[in-house]
Amino acid sequence: MCALEIKKDIYWVGAVDWNVRNFHGHTYTTKRGTTYNAYLVKDEKIALIDTVHPAFTGELIEKIKQLTPLENIDYIITNHVEVDHSGALPEVLKLCPMAKVLGTKKCKEGLYKHYYGNWDFQFVKTGDELNLGKRVLTFLEAPMLHWPESMFTYCPQEELLFPNDAFGQHYATSERFDDEVDQFVLMDEAAKYYGNILWPLSAMVLKKIEEVQKMNIALRMIAPSHGIIWRSFPTKIIEAYSSWAKNETKNKVAIVYETMWGATGKMARMIAEGIIDSGLNIKLFDITFSDRTEVIREMLDSKGYVIGSSTHDNDMLTTIAGFLQFLKGLKPKNRLACVFGSYGWAGGAIQEIEKVIKEAGIEISLPSLSVQYIPNEQESVRCYEFGKDFAKKLKSDGNELTQ
Ligand code: FEO
Repeated sequence: MCALEIKKDIYWVGAVDWNVRNFHGHTYTTKRGTTYNAYLVKDEKIALIDTVHPAFTGELIEKIKQLTPLENIDYIITNHVEVDHSGALPEVLKLCPMAKVLGTKKCKEGLYKHYYGNWDFQFVKTGDELNLGKRVLTFLEAPMLHWPESMFTYCPQEELLFPNDAFGQHYATSERFDDEVDQFVLMDEAAKYYGNILWPLSAMVLKKIEEVQKMNIALRMIAPSHGIIWRSFPTKIIEAYSSWAKNETKNKVAIVYETMWGATGKMARMIAEGIIDSGLNIKLFDITFSDRTEVIREMLDSKGYVIGSSTHDNDMLTTIAGFLQFLKGLKPKNRLACVFGSYGWAGGAIQEIEKVIKEAGIEISLPSLSVQYIPNEQESVRCYEFGKDFAKKLKSDGNELTQ
């Protein structure tokens, strides 16, 4: 794949990782692979914006060579230290040893603790400018979006934002632009990315969006460090981020459970029937067989969570326990939940689930429902009614549900 000009004399020089299936130490499944986007700005001075995962160093170097000898690079802007964007930096710098590395103060510390290189580093902060000749690059610190050193780079002449991880998607494609790909898949991958990575940072996301809006800068193109470049619909992804960051929800319920011998699964299906018959949409996941990343994507805009587990050793089962621990860290807000499960002799799962749900700051809107062993006909009806009661709570909650 060749370098691709995205604006006059500004090139995508990244790499497509078709086969990666796990990210962040297996916390994120990437069924559609990903890309590591780096960009080269050719002006009187030449700037490389970010690099790629170390496994793709050769591809990055080859693409840059199509445009200029590497020793001509004057600046390497490091928006983010994480290895998927800085991993090729040590090798690239061997080929352009005179290049200056630019980033925030925390970026320098982070780079040093990753690579221990003695590089020519220049600190930049919000509002600083780098004059390349015909174009200027300006910098906007974005701490904790999603690392302390994270930064955005903006080119006012092209109205082009390089926000690194923000607005990205783990989506490997031969196409590079938003108008060239399936819109549903694109937004679904963007939502999955937000839900699994940025959701706990929503307050900061909102603040940053407001800050950018107050700056009144024009945005014609957003070129993130993963996935597709937004050239036709840059406002679409900003609006989506704003909605996710406000924890706005849709008219749907995520039912997530783990079952030992099928009784809790039977309860889940009866509860689902009650919710569906009340006019709400559901998605049902036995977490043992479900992709956690996909489940979180579904929970990102679901108003209601129904969580269940069989009891084992006076506790919930271990897969749902791990899942709830992950969910707690994502800090969902503005949700209602209910809890259910089957037990044999002494219970315990329900109480343990309630504890985690409360710790996550999610309101439990009904007394939990438990059934001994396998639900009989009467208990199945109770499950169905439980689903109906939960749907009623969701509908009467102060926050409007949207389609
Ligand atoms: Fe894509 Fe935070 O690295």
